[in-house]
Amino acid sequence: MAKLLITGGAGFIGSHTCLVLLEAGHSLVVLDNFDNSSPESLRRVQELAGPAAADALKVIKGDVRSSSDLERALAGGCDAVVHFAGLKAVGESVAKPLLYWDVNVSGSRELLAAMRACGCRTIVFSSSATLYGLPEVVPICETAPIKPINPYGQTKAAVEQMLADIATSEAGWRIACLRYFNPVGAHPSGRLGEDPNGIPNNLFPFVSQVAVGRRSRLSVFGGDWPTPDGSGVRDYIHVMDLAEGHRAAVDVLLAEDPQLLTLNLGSGQGHSVLEVVAAFEAASGQAVPYEVVARRPGDAASSVADPSLAAQRLRWRTQRGLSEMCRDGWAWQSANPQGYAS
Ligand code: NAD
Ligand code: UD1
Repeated sequence: MAKLLITGGAGFIGSHTCLVLLEAGHSLVVLDNFDNSSPESLRRVQELAGPAAADALKVIKGDVRSSSDLERALAGGCDAVVHFAGLKAVGESVAKPLLYWDVNVSGSRELLAAMRACGCRTIVFSSSATLYGLPEVVPICETAPIKPINPYGQTKAAVEQMLADIATSEAGWRIACLRYFNPVGAHPSGRLGEDPNGIPNNLFPFVSQVAVGRRSRLSVFGGDWPTPDGSGVRDYIHVMDLAEGHRAAVDVLLAEDPQLLTLNLGSGQGHSVLEVVAAFEAASGQAVPYEVVARRPGDAASSVADPSLAAQRLRWRTQRGLSEMCRDGWAWQSANPQGYAS
């Protein structure tokens, strides 16, 4: 079993992935500055993983931009890194581009330098379907043009380029860039989930906060898109499926020859905003009032993955559908109406 460094492991995707990696028998060091998360998520990961993993999770509060924090996190040896740490709010990235280039790009550069210094050359990177911009062809293959339309997407494209450059520069790098589509849902226990600060930008957390009574109604951004019901279509992926995709990527990188893998992680199924509202109402038994308003700038009509390359290379595919995403999202939201602060 491997020794893994998980940057940003206290966050939404990181916490679920830590649990799956602990259950697979790996030992983990998490490096997180808790800028957008709470240590409580990792306490619950430890609780869910049970006594078998009692000594297998070490948590370090620190920043990926700090070489001394990275040195501490890598000190016990490391077989592979899963790099989640970063900032992800599109609107904030437009307002504060230098902050996004600093955390996402300089942070990744600092991490790669620290990895080289300690002889670790295996990394799984959290990339995003956002780098396809407004896709011309749907479903989207990995060979589609990279055309990000905001600074957040630019930073993801830049880190993918940095990883490609480092793989070319010296032998031995094992790299997976995982381009996530729309991660949603929660651990089925309701103990782990997504805990956004302030007003959620994304559909799922907004819908679940309406269902639990924290917000009065959802604004549906556009009812005139060229989609079957006029609302936007996305490829939602259950966070537990995504976590299992990371476990598979770590296993494949460590087992195979050095390589650079670039993979879409999605379900291949599109769902509209109105379908999500109906499914969430059915799963929660709560009404989700909504009104259709103007389109949001920068939105695409439809974004759906072609996930066939990941199925082939990782022998992984999604197992959970929209009703499980809503059921588990509701289990989390209803038990933790104020997130980890509940
Ligand atoms: P998140 O904000 O919940 O998790 C990110 C974690 O990184 C947080 O725990 C945060 O405290 C930590 N962090 C931030 N800056 C840091 C720094 N300088 N040093 C150390 N830790 C730092 O976000 P998430 O949804 O779990 O996303 C994880 C990764 O996946 C991010 O890189 C994000 O860009 C990417 N991604 C997310 C989505 C999505 O919809 N959630 C989609 C595509 C890609
Ligand atoms: C958004 C980001 C994307 C980022 C992703 C994950 C934008 C333009 N895109 O993607 O870069 O990678 O989040 O963090 O911000 N919707 C509503 N009402 C809402 C919220 C959303 O109708 O209150 C609609 C959107 O118009 C879209 C769908 O719901 O059709 C999904 O939206 P969202 O969850 O924000 O994800 P993306 O737009 O795919």
